[in-house]
Amino acid sequence: VVAFLGFGELATALASVLREGGAESLQAFSRRRLDPGRSAEAVRRMAALEIRSADTLVSAVHDADVVLSCVPGAAAAEVAEQAASALAPGALYVDLATASPEDKERGARAVLAGGGRYVDAAVLGAVAASGGAVPIAAAGVGAAAFYEFSRPLGLKVRAIDAPAGAAARIKLLRSVYMKGRDALVVEMLLGARRHGLEDAVAASIAGPGEEVPFPELAERILRSTALHARRRAAELGDARVLLEAADVEAAATAGAVRRLQLVAELEGERSVPGERPATPVELLEHLPR
Ligand SMILES: NC(=O)c1ccc[n+]([C@@H]2O[C@H](COP(=O)([O-])OP(=O)(O)OC[C@H]3O[C@@H](n4cnc5c(N)ncnc54)[C@H](OP(=O)(O)O)[C@@H]3O)[C@@H](O)[C@H]2O)c1
Repeated sequence: VVAFLGFGELATALASVLREGGAESLQAFSRRRLDPGRSAEAVRRMAALEIRSADTLVSAVHDADVVLSCVPGAAAAEVAEQAASALAPGALYVDLATASPEDKERGARAVLAGGGRYVDAAVLGAVAASGGAVPIAAAGVGAAAFYEFSRPLGLKVRAIDAPAGAAARIKLLRSVYMKGRDALVVEMLLGARRHGLEDAVAASIAGPGEEVPFPELAERILRSTALHARRRAAELGDARVLLEAADVEAAATAGAVRRLQLVAELEGERSVPGERPATPVELLEHLPR
């Protein structure tokens, strides 16, 4: 028995994957269903997937082997606390909300006290783009069991041997790149447009660097940045001037210049002038902050 708490976009996408994968007994609690003004749409989505609609949160979870909480992040810890005491012994409580690591830890404590096994699950993407095949990172005591349960049914879960809170931290840390990249792309194209060069600039960002798997790309970047940070900081500083000349506030570029300067400062701190970190890990260990 799988129970969904909240039945919005994420729950609907995951439920359809579970259905296709052969899951039989699905049920859900959605407050929307209790609101006459908004119930029709939620009821229709549940009916289309043959999902039993529970009247209360407690009645949705009490006989479930797996609970999938798909509520907004701000409600995640509170919903976990409400569900905890109603869980069947050993039930998996999978919290898929985008909530803070601290809220996931709070949820984990409540679920543990209620006799369930908590999973901090981070959805690493958007269902609008990937559907229910969106990658999910899972941490916490129930992570391996959630992986075993969900893989044969078609969910793309990766279990991490780390306590609850770790998946939420992964999601936040990858945002430094994912969202930072978005900011840099906007800034670059804004400047390119002002200079009348947006098509040529966009087309120029192609090549081997854009086609390697990310872990390999990250290692390449760390290695080459250790060698060339000073020159790259200077060049990016020139790019910043070009943006500002076109009246574009170079907020993201300025941050990137500063980061490269911090790497370049390593050179002055090392005992042997010109000696460089041998490995990417060594670089990360030596960076001042
Ligand atoms: N959709 C995605 O692609 C995606 C990707 C990554 C992460 N996530 C995360 O997944 C979670 C769900 O996202 P979603 O896109 O499915 O959101 P959504 O479409 O807005 O659905 C949220 C659901 O949670 C219910 N809910 C809200 N507050 C509740 C509460 N206090 N108790 C019980 N149910 C409550 C809502 O019901 P009401 O309408 O009655 O409030 C609704 O059924 C969020 O934490 C989101 O950040 C989503």
